[in-house]
Amino acid sequence: MKKILVTGGAGYIGSHTVVALQEAGFEPIIVDNYVNSSVSVLEGLRAILGAEVKHYDVDCTDKAAFRGVFEAEPDLAGVIHFAAYKAVGESVQKPLMYFQNNVGSLLVLLELMAEFKVTNLVFSSSCTVYGVPDQLPVTEETPTKPANSPYGRTKQMCEDILRDLAQAPDNEVKTILLRYFNPVGAHPSALIGELPLGVPQNLIPFVTQTAAGIREKLTIYGDTYDTPDGTNIRDYVHVVDLAKAHVVAVQRLLQAQSTAVETYNVGTGRGNSVLEVVHAFERATGQKLNYVIGPPRAGDVPAIYADVTKATAELGFQTTSTLEEALASAWRWQQHLGETAKG
Ligand code: UD1
Repeated sequence: MKKILVTGGAGYIGSHTVVALQEAGFEPIIVDNYVNSSVSVLEGLRAILGAEVKHYDVDCTDKAAFRGVFEAEPDLAGVIHFAAYKAVGESVQKPLMYFQNNVGSLLVLLELMAEFKVTNLVFSSSCTVYGVPDQLPVTEETPTKPANSPYGRTKQMCEDILRDLAQAPDNEVKTILLRYFNPVGAHPSALIGELPLGVPQNLIPFVTQTAAGIREKLTIYGDTYDTPDGTNIRDYVHVVDLAKAHVVAVQRLLQAQSTAVETYNVGTGRGNSVLEVVHAFERATGQKLNYVIGPPRAGDVPAIYADVTKATAELGFQTTSTLEEALASAWRWQQHLGETAKG
C-alpha cells in the first residue's frame, strides 16, 4: 500500500481525506499537533475504518520533530499538506502567527521532502486567493487579487513559493494546488465532522449549534450586498466530495512526470446565498432556525463560486451531494456530538 503523509489529518478536511485515501487503497499517515483539532477524531476514524490510523503528534514547523516522521516513514509516496491556521478574523489580530505557521510549515515540509526525496505534494489552497473577483464564476485563470486578510495572503504566498520552487533546476517536487471553496457537511456515519473549538466562526457549525440550542441565534452578516437577496454568495461543497478530490489529485501526481504546478478549483459550480443556506437547512432537517440580520463582517467577499470545468475534465472530479444532503449530514454530526457530550 502506498503511504501518504497527511499533515493536519485530524482536522476537518484532513480527517475526511484520511477515510477517502484508505478506501482508495492508500495508507494514510497523520501528522497533527491537535492545536485546532482533537485526538477524539482518531476514535471516529478507527470506528469508520475498523483499524487504527498511524499518527504522529508533531508540529510541522518543528523541523527536528518533523524529520523524525520522515525517518520513521522512509517510503512515502506523497504528502497532502492541510496543516494550517484558517480563521480569517484571527489572522487580522495575529498576522505573524499566521505567517510563521502557514508559511513556515510549508518551508519545513519542502526542505524535508527534498532531503528524503519525496516528490508528490497536494497543497490545501483556497478560493480566498481570488480576493474580490471581477467575474463569476472564477476559473483557475481568473487573476488573483490582493488578499482580504493575512490568512488569505499566507495561501497566496504558499502558492507563490510552490510555483517558484517548480522553476528551480534541481527541484523534483510535483505539486497540485487545490483551491477549496466552502466545505460543508460530514461523513455519512456522523462519526467525524467539523469540530470548531469555541464559538464557531464558520457558517455551518454556527447554524447547527443554533439549531441544537447551544447558540441563541445566527447573525447573518449583512443583507444589502449586490446579490439577489442581499446576502453573501458562496460555493458550498460537501466535504466527502472534496476529500475524494485529494485522492484523484494524488493518483494524478503518481502518474505524471511534469514538475509544473497544477491548480484546480474544487467546488460545486453553484453559488448559494446565506439565506438560501438557512432555508435549505430548515428544509433538510425540519429544524426552524432562529436568525437575525446583522452588519456586514469585515473582509467578507460579496460573492464567489467556482467554475469546476478543469477539475471535472482533468481530475474526473464530481460532486455527488446536494446542498440539502450536505446540510442534513452536518446536522446528524451535530446531533452525534450532542449525544457524546451527554455521555
Ligand atoms: C473564508 C474564506 C475561505 C477560508 C475560510 C476559513 C473567502 C472568500 N473565504 O470563508 O477561503 O478557507 O474563511 O474559515 O475568503 N456567515 C454569517 N454568519 C456567521 C458566519 C458566517 O452570515 O455567523 C456568512 C459569511 O458572511 C459568509 C458565509 O456565511 O458569507 C460563509 O462564511 P464562512 O463559513 O465563515 O466562510 P467564508 O468566510 O466564506
